Amino acid sequence: MKFLSIVFFPIITLLASVAGKAEENSAAPFRVTIDVSSPGTEVSPNRYGIFFEDINFAADGGLYAELIKNRSFEFPQAFMGWKIFGNVALQIEDGPFTRNPHYIRLSPASHRERKTGVENEGFRGIAWEKGKKYRFSAWGRVGVNQTTPVVLQACLIDEKNNSVAQTDMVITQKEWKKYIVELVPSKTVDQGSFRLLLNSPGIVDLDHLSLFPRHTWKERENGLRADLTGALKELNPGLLRFPGGCIVEGTSLATRYNWKDSIGPVENRPLNENRWNFSTKKRLSPDYYQSYGLGFYEYFLLAEDLGATPLPVLNCGMACQFQNGKEAHASLEDMDVYIQDALDLIEFANGDISTKWGALRAEMGHPRPFHLKYLAIGNEQWGDEYAERLERFLATLRKKHPEIRIIGSAGPGASGQEFDNLWKHMRSLNVDLVDEHYYASPDWFRKNARRYDTYPRSGPKVFAGEYACHTPEKSNNFSSALHEAAFMTGLERNADIVPMATYAPLLAHKDAWQWKPDLIWFDNRSLVLTPNYYVQQMYSTYAGNRILPLAGEDGKPLAGQKGLYGSSVFDGERKSIIVKLVNMNPSDCTIQLNFKGQDEQIPKGSGIAIRLHSDNIETQNNFEKPDNIRPVSTILPALEKNRLDLRIPAYSFGVYVFPAE
Ligand code: AHR
Repeated sequence: MKFLSIVFFPIITLLASVAGKAEENSAAPFRVTIDVSSPGTEVSPNRYGIFFEDINFAADGGLYAELIKNRSFEFPQAFMGWKIFGNVALQIEDGPFTRNPHYIRLSPASHRERKTGVENEGFRGIAWEKGKKYRFSAWGRVGVNQTTPVVLQACLIDEKNNSVAQTDMVITQKEWKKYIVELVPSKTVDQGSFRLLLNSPGIVDLDHLSLFPRHTWKERENGLRADLTGALKELNPGLLRFPGGCIVEGTSLATRYNWKDSIGPVENRPLNENRWNFSTKKRLSPDYYQSYGLGFYEYFLLAEDLGATPLPVLNCGMACQFQNGKEAHASLEDMDVYIQDALDLIEFANGDISTKWGALRAEMGHPRPFHLKYLAIGNEQWGDEYAERLERFLATLRKKHPEIRIIGSAGPGASGQEFDNLWKHMRSLNVDLVDEHYYASPDWFRKNARRYDTYPRSGPKVFAGEYACHTPEKSNNFSSALHEAAFMTGLERNADIVPMATYAPLLAHKDAWQWKPDLIWFDNRSLVLTPNYYVQQMYSTYAGNRILPLAGEDGKPLAGQKGLYGSSVFDGERKSIIVKLVNMNPSDCTIQLNFKGQDEQIPKGSGIAIRLHSDNIETQNNFEKPDNIRPVSTILPALEKNRLDLRIPAYSFGVYVFPAE
């Protein structure tokens, strides 16, 4: 896999590496005042996070590094993703994994010149790199009457049907056993396939045919793609919300995300349908299923690796409300199983290893707790029927786990009758946070930069759990990123009421997406970081720890006056004052920054600017030109006393970092 390196310097490196071109001052500046005298609200360390859902092939075919689709033959069409030839039969009795009962039997074809075998197409092809190692494993046993070993040949096949790596796997035992071989291709291929041939006389049974790159994130066996995980790490996320999104709810309750099915040995995690396989009418993905290979244990591990607080979302006894009527939900009398799931999850994450679920966590390799603090009950739910169910969860969770902060839903809309009704319920149920979602127009994002300035300060706080600016063509162009940056000045300013936010969705396979825009696009070997990604990265890297009031010439928060948006924080670790400014105008302007406070509080010396800018607001990063837009750093001139005139480019989002005690 190609790793697209992300150039995002820590300040020290950056100061040493930038060209040193000072900014020019100009006349008639717009005055902005930053009050550094009394730092306000503390910024939550979970401030800017990641929303992860298996949509757009984000997990299977994406972050989860497995290269074989339908590895256990459990799809409803058992050979979907496979070509079979010769004498291949699907078996169901007596397999090694009770929750994935299918396996295959390979027997010799009817003539010595004929072949028996199977070939997998992967997730829109299989990609590999020349000289790198790939691990193929399978569970196998020889036929009952077999007296000699059975030889299989594993091959990587390129787009022109040539084998570019092959090796033998010899099945020797009559009992089920895991066999592993390694393949090293002689050529890099973007859209190949995997073929397995029966290459000797005899009968063999096989299950869980799996192919992984040797190199995964932290070199784990059931691992994640190193390049994609690296890109997540470089987002500096404070929070990881998983596993969705609508897949939490399922097309029916039977296909809801069931976290208990997603843990334990991967071979025995039962396959689940993906709610996104048929729901985008023009882009059907009938081969979209969840292997759960990336399950709750792996999500907790990922959160730990990223330094992010885990935030699981659990089903609240309701199937996806977009896809169902009320009859699809669990009745109030049947809520116990869902509530028990929540209790057991807390034990799995935090429980002592002497407990049932804590012991399972330890057995899987993590005796230490995962420090779960937040739990969302329900995803994008609405109606009184949701409140009734949430109430039952709360009655139990508050009693048994008062330490866990509970998140309720404000539904799919950001305003209106349903939204108000939900907020009323959330207040009376006294949840800790309310999950608001907004997929909205650029206009909405500009106008809502003031949204939280007037929110009531008592009662639940807000988790901005899903948001993205949807331009008319719904692409990740610079305009959408700039609008998000402008809106986020309002999130930042109101950190007391909106302590956490996650952009959505996160990942999209370029040949298998259902929804856009998305933060990161990828194919089977490379990735593209969108301008929206850089906005998130700039906010999370420069989140600071205390909010500083920032006002325009009218003394009000800078939220649209003359097309400008701004916010400011104090960063105690970096000993810096950080100012974020968005210029939505098609022309440059000059902003005069005035720092108000005691002399010792005013920044000294030169700061730096880290800016995203393009003359063309429609610009995108794409696979041909992934670096069209990326942050660029420059050194700023020194302040004159407490003041600095800054030239702000047209269409730009900048983070301005000033050294301060
Ligand atoms: O992010 C895509 C989808 O948008 C999520 O699954 C759902 O919660 C929302 O409707």
